[in-house]
Amino acid sequence: MTDKEYRELKRDILAWLSQQLKPKRLKHTLGVEEIAVALARIWGSNIYEASLAALLHDNAKNLDTQLLFEICQKEYPALSLSLEYSSVLHAFAGASIAAKRYPMMSEGVIHAICYHTTARPQMSQLEKIIYAADFAEPGRESFPGLEIIRERLFIDLDAGIRQILQQTVHYVRMKKKKIHPLTLDALQYYENES
Ligand SMILES: [Fe+2]
Ligand SMILES: [Fe+2]
Repeated sequence: MTDKEYRELKRDILAWLSQQLKPKRLKHTLGVEEIAVALARIWGSNIYEASLAALLHDNAKNLDTQLLFEICQKEYPALSLSLEYSSVLHAFAGASIAAKRYPMMSEGVIHAICYHTTARPQMSQLEKIIYAADFAEPGRESFPGLEIIRERLFIDLDAGIRQILQQTVHYVRMKKKKIHPLTLDALQYYENES
């Protein structure tokens, strides 16, 4: 992708997102992009892809849950994406919406959108970067340990990912909600990696 192509795509995406997303979500998205680009520089990932995947990651976040569910059922019949996992539907639906709207987008970018909420075992570098950036973006409300995870992501990406997964599983269990099987698989994978 040339610099010109990237800039034109980014302009189009931002104009689209300003209609799709509430201001708070748009602000979050820009925060995720900032961290994703910083992580991509450190870890030698493609900066354009990190920026575009970050911008697109939550494109479906403000859509109606029923609509998200219908898109997921149609596009990912093999995945167990029931309404019990309502918080992860926007990631899968958003990947499908982004792939249709931007057919020139690489599969890597689409996968990074797809797995930004659940994670999965053996994530690509870009998938890890978007997953991590979503968690560590500067606007996120602080909690004990967030600063340590943020710093770790720039020193040892897999260790940071492992901590995010542990924190997330702990949090979801505390809230007595169901954890998506992909997240549990990812946790097991990254715990065994260390
Ligand atoms: Fe999200
Ligand atoms: Fe997000």
